[in-house]
Amino acid sequence: MKTKIEKLNNQGEGICYINNKITFIKNTLPNEIIEIKNLKQYSKYNIASLKRIIDKSPLRIESPCPYFNECGGCDLQQLNYNDTLNFKVNKIKELFYKYAHINDLKIEVVKNKNDFYYRNKIVLKIINGKIGYFKSRTQEIVEIKKCIIAKKSINKIISHIKCLNIMNGEITIRSNYKDQIIINIKSKDEINFNLLKNIKNIIGIVLNDKLVYGHDFFLEQIDNYLFKVSYNSFFQVNNFTNEKIFEILKELLSNNQKVLDLYCGVGTLSIVASKLDNEVYGIEINENAIENAKYNNIINNSNVNFTNGNVSDIINKLNIQFDCIIVDPPRGGLNKKTIDYLSLLKARNIIYISCNPLTLSRDISVLKNNYDIIKYYLIDTFSYTNHIESIVLLKFKQID
Ligand SMILES: C[S@@+](CC[C@H](N)C(=O)[O-])C[C@H]1O[C@@H](n2cnc3c(N)ncnc32)[C@H](O)[C@@H]1O
Repeated sequence: MKTKIEKLNNQGEGICYINNKITFIKNTLPNEIIEIKNLKQYSKYNIASLKRIIDKSPLRIESPCPYFNECGGCDLQQLNYNDTLNFKVNKIKELFYKYAHINDLKIEVVKNKNDFYYRNKIVLKIINGKIGYFKSRTQEIVEIKKCIIAKKSINKIISHIKCLNIMNGEITIRSNYKDQIIINIKSKDEINFNLLKNIKNIIGIVLNDKLVYGHDFFLEQIDNYLFKVSYNSFFQVNNFTNEKIFEILKELLSNNQKVLDLYCGVGTLSIVASKLDNEVYGIEINENAIENAKYNNIINNSNVNFTNGNVSDIINKLNIQFDCIIVDPPRGGLNKKTIDYLSLLKARNIIYISCNPLTLSRDISVLKNNYDIIKYYLIDTFSYTNHIESIVLLKFKQID
C-alpha cells in the first residue's frame, strides 16, 4: 500500500492516515511517499513498517545500522546529526507550548562528542532464545549482533551472550571508563555463566540480584571525580555529556550556599556542588546508590549529608532554608506532593535536570507560578533516539 508521510510525532515516527486512522511508521520523514508492509490495526491507531521509499525526503540519509528499520532502540537514524538536534529543539518547544503555555523558550544545545558508540549501558531482552531489543511498539525481539550507539567495549560482549543459552530473561551490560564490564542477568533458566568468566574485561556477574562472580560494582570516572557505581545504581549513560552536565552545574551554582540534591543517585551532582564550598544534602531511595554516594563522598573528599529515603516522604521534614534545590527525578517527573513542597520551600533557584521533556514541561507548568525560566540546556545524551536530557535553571519570582 502506498501512502504519504505528513509529519513526525514526538517519538520520531512518521504519521500518515490509513482507513481514517492515525498510523505510525518508523524510519520515515515528512512528505515522503512510501510503500508500507505489516499493517497492524488497533482500535485507536495503526502501526506499519516501511517496505520501500518511492519519493525520498532531501533530509534522508542512509542509516549505518542494519537493524534500524525494525529495532525500537533508535528513532532518528534517517536524519543527519544536526537535523536530529533540530527535531529535538522543536519537540521541546512543542511540549512547552502545549503543556506549560510557554512559547518563547531559548534553548542552548550541547552536542554529543561521539554521536555513535556512546552508551555505557544497554539492556538486552531475551525471548525464546532470541536476543536483542524490542521492535518499535511491540514486544517482538529484533535480534542484534551489534549496537552502534553502545560503547565498543559493550559490543565486544554482545556476541558472547548467545553462548549462555538463555531462553528467556534480560541482560544488562555496563562498561566504565576503563572498559571494565559488569553483567547483570535476570532469568529463571539454568545458566552456566562460567563461560563469561574468562572473557577479558568482565569484572563482575550478578544473577537475579546475587553476585556470582567478581564484583557487583565498578568505579567510574567523570572529569577528576571517581564514583563507585553498584550494578543496580543509576548512572548517566553518556560519560561525555555527563561531564558537560557537571560543567553547566558549576556555572549555575554559587558558593557558600545551602543546596538540596533530590534524587541524588550515587551522589554525582551533590559532590560537584559540595566542592564549591556549599552545604549539601542529598536524598536517594535506592539503598545501594546511597551506600555508593556515602563512599563517593569519602573518596572525593567532599562533605555531603546523604539520606536514604523517598523524596516525597522526606521533603516536608526538612527544616532548612535552601538557596538552591537540584531535582533530577526519573522519567515520571515530580509528584504533586513534591511540587507543592518545592514551592513552599521558596529556594532562590531550582535546577531541574530531566530525561523526559514531557513530564518536565508538565511540572514547569505548575512551578512557573512561582519561578521564571532563566536558562534551558538541551543535552544530547541520547543521540539518534528521540530521548532528550534537559537542564533548566528556574529563579524564584519575588527575588531580584
Ligand atoms: C535520573 S536519576 C538521577 C541520579 C543522579 N542525580 C545522577 O545524575 O546520577 C534518578 C534517581 O532517583 C532515584 N529515585 C527514584 N524515585 C525516588 C524517590 N521517590 N525518592 C528518592 N529517590 C528516587 C533513582 O533511584 C535514581 O537514582
